[in-house]
Amino acid sequence: MEIIIITAAASNGAIGKAGIQPWYCKEELIHFNKRTIGYPMIMGSATMIEIAKPLKGRENLVLTSKSYDEDTTGFLYFNSLENAISYCNDKDYKKLFIIGGESVYKQAMEIADRILISVMDFSFDGDRFFPRIEEDKWELEKEDRRKNFVIYDYKRKV
Ligand SMILES: NC(=O)c1ccc[n+]([C@@H]2O[C@H](COP(=O)([O-])OP(=O)(O)OC[C@H]3O[C@@H](n4cnc5c(N)ncnc54)[C@H](OP(=O)(O)O)[C@@H]3O)[C@@H](O)[C@H]2O)c1
Repeated sequence: MEIIIITAAASNGAIGKAGIQPWYCKEELIHFNKRTIGYPMIMGSATMIEIAKPLKGRENLVLTSKSYDEDTTGFLYFNSLENAISYCNDKDYKKLFIIGGESVYKQAMEIADRILISVMDFSFDGDRFFPRIEEDKWELEKEDRRKNFVIYDYKRKV
C-alpha cells in the first residue's frame, strides 16, 4: 500500500491558522478530491473538527486520544498512526492518504512513500506549517502548474 501525504501550503509553508485553512481555491479542492476519492484518509482530530463532516466516497480515519462515537459522527477513530495504517492494510487498499494537519504530517514524513504538495502562489501568516522537504530524502518526480498553484509530486528516495 502506497502512503501518500497530500497537502496545500502557502509559498512560505503555512497550511493553517487558528484551526482552519485560511484560503479557498476551488481548483485545488477539485484536485484533492480527484486524487483521494475511493481511498482512505488519515487526519488529526483538529482537522476533523475543521472539516466537521466526513468527506464523501472515502473512509475518514481520525487520530485522537479521546473517545468519540463513530456511529453518530461517521468518522473512524484510532489512538495511533500505526493502528490507522494497519486498518487500511487489512482492507487491502492500494493507496492511503495522509491529509494533515501539521502534527500528523510531521509523523507521516518518516513513513510516507510520496508527497503531493500544492504550493499556492501567495504567502500567508499562518500558525501551522508543512515540514521541510529534505532534498536528500525526497526526489521531485512531477511538477504541474495550475492557475493559482503548482502541484509538486515527490517520491521518497530509496
Ligand atoms: N493546508 C492543508 O493542506 C491542511 C490540511 C489539514 C489541516 N490543515 C490545517 O492544519 C491545522 C491543524 O493542524 P494541527 O497540527 O493543529 O492538528 P491536527 O494534526 O489536525 O490534529 C492534532 C490532534 O490529532 C491527534 N493526534 C495526532 N497524532 C496522534 C497520534 N499519533 N495518536 C493519537 N492522536 C493523535 C491529537 O488529538 P487529541 O487531542 O484529540 O488526542 C492531536 O491533538 C488547521 O489549521 C488546519 O486547517 C491544513
